[in-house]
Amino acid sequence: MVLRLEVRNVSKSFLGVRALDKVSLSVAPGEIHALLGENGAGKSTLSKIVAGVYDADEGEILLDGKPLHGLTEASAARAGIGIVHQEGSLIDHLSVSENIYSGRPPTSFLGQIDRRKLRSWSAELLAQLGLHIDPDSRVADLPSALRQVVEIAKALSHRPKLLILDEPTAALTLTETDELFGVVRNLASQGVAVIYVSHRLGEIFELCHRVTILRDGHYVDTVKVSETNTEALIRLMVGRDLEFAREPASAPPGEALIEAHAISSGPDVHEASITVRRGEIVCLAGLVGSGRTEFCEVLFGARRRESGEVMFKGRSFRPRQPRDAMRAGIGMVCEDRKETGLFLERNLVENTAVTVLDAVSTGLVVSWAKAGALAETFRESLGIVTPSVYQKVGLLSGGNQQKVLLAKWLATKPALLIVDEPTRGVDVGARSEIYRILRELRSEGVGLLVVSSDLPEVLALADRIVVMADGRTVGELSGAEADEVSILRLATVNTQTGLETMETA
Ligand SMILES: Nc1ncnc2c1ncn2[C@@H]1O[C@H](COP(=O)(O)OP(=O)(O)OP(=O)(O)O)[C@@H](O)[C@H]1O
Ligand SMILES: [Mg+2]
Repeated sequence: MVLRLEVRNVSKSFLGVRALDKVSLSVAPGEIHALLGENGAGKSTLSKIVAGVYDADEGEILLDGKPLHGLTEASAARAGIGIVHQEGSLIDHLSVSENIYSGRPPTSFLGQIDRRKLRSWSAELLAQLGLHIDPDSRVADLPSALRQVVEIAKALSHRPKLLILDEPTAALTLTETDELFGVVRNLASQGVAVIYVSHRLGEIFELCHRVTILRDGHYVDTVKVSETNTEALIRLMVGRDLEFAREPASAPPGEALIEAHAISSGPDVHEASITVRRGEIVCLAGLVGSGRTEFCEVLFGARRRESGEVMFKGRSFRPRQPRDAMRAGIGMVCEDRKETGLFLERNLVENTAVTVLDAVSTGLVVSWAKAGALAETFRESLGIVTPSVYQKVGLLSGGNQQKVLLAKWLATKPALLIVDEPTRGVDVGARSEIYRILRELRSEGVGLLVVSSDLPEVLALADRIVVMADGRTVGELSGAEADEVSILRLATVNTQTGLETMETA
């Protein structure tokens, strides 16, 4: 049988960083092949080389047994290689259909864009994916899950023989992930070869046939999914065993830091209440769209509070903007690091310095020496992998960007730190590091409010769990007693009928 894709001894360096070192990989028609490795292992680089975004420094790529030379994005697409990029590729001000067929829209015989065809083709493609999105809606107006599906539709519009999905589920709910898996399985059954990049090991076991592991740009191994298990994959990926067990606080929590009572804001938050004490980790669980982020934004002054009371350190607290909350000692690590959290064009020093200009300034002058030293401390303590603290943050791998974001807020020495999805797109090694950092903050007396959609993460971290559904806080569980089922039962409670009884720990 001819292999659909063969990658032979491919290497790639970026300004002295060896991102890939003689990596080989093969994918058969109809095979779903996972690509696994820690942040910075080289998964996206390999994907981009195959899709013609980057040139390899050496090595060979064969599609259906034929070598591909001088590959560009356009020629790769024509050859039948589709890719969904980790960082997204949609143009905000264009419509869904314009994005799907960007660069090669259907034209009339006079050479003009055939709008009717553009719309009907897109509608058909979206319907095949089981989606009811208006092809005319502007991409900027779509929630992140739908944007992701439009990305997938765009990759499929080429009718690819090889489809590369680079962390396609990071922004998807469980149901949407299931639907995506249905689409991928269906394509594979028609002979499409799929490369699937994900940090979620569960997905690999559910969806993939074989898995290739990369570590620091090196090929480690290729194994059949049916012949391996989670522990073995983690060992291949990080070279050691890792534990994600619950580690309760060593001391009981201190006094209440923030007490929010019956907070309402717009359509998203209805009479939500929460208390976070010094030295405890409270996780805010719930389905995507249950209002968790919006609730946190109210506490942080980034969203208007329409009613309700907040006490911070025993005093009535009403931040009008995030700056007020930061002055009072609250930090917030945002869910979407690309849009709200980091300055991707700036380096680690600049990113950490912006939140602490006072601490690194003398009078009105910023001391870049001090800022540099601060950044070095974080690079060391958080294990941020970068050639230097002066590297643009946008060039770091996803997990390392997440650590920079954390560093930026840790620099402010907050009393209360709100963290929204701390490990999205983060590999298992960095994940255990981030858990360690959050627990260390807890033992220093910081209060932590963590929003997470990852149930094992909630169970590993939380001293207490507050569950939201439909904008309301519907129940509370103690971290020691909760399990996935009890959290999900609360998260899916019907707040209209009140079916399912409320539980309080
Ligand atoms: N355009 C670039 N310029 C400089 N360095 C780069 C560039 N792209 C990637 N790198 C570096 O190459 C290495 C591999 O990065 P890559 O993005 O392929 O990792 P990854 O396995 O996809 O990680 P993640 O799981 O975080 O997405 C990293 O050290 C990264 O910083
Ligand atoms: Mg990547």
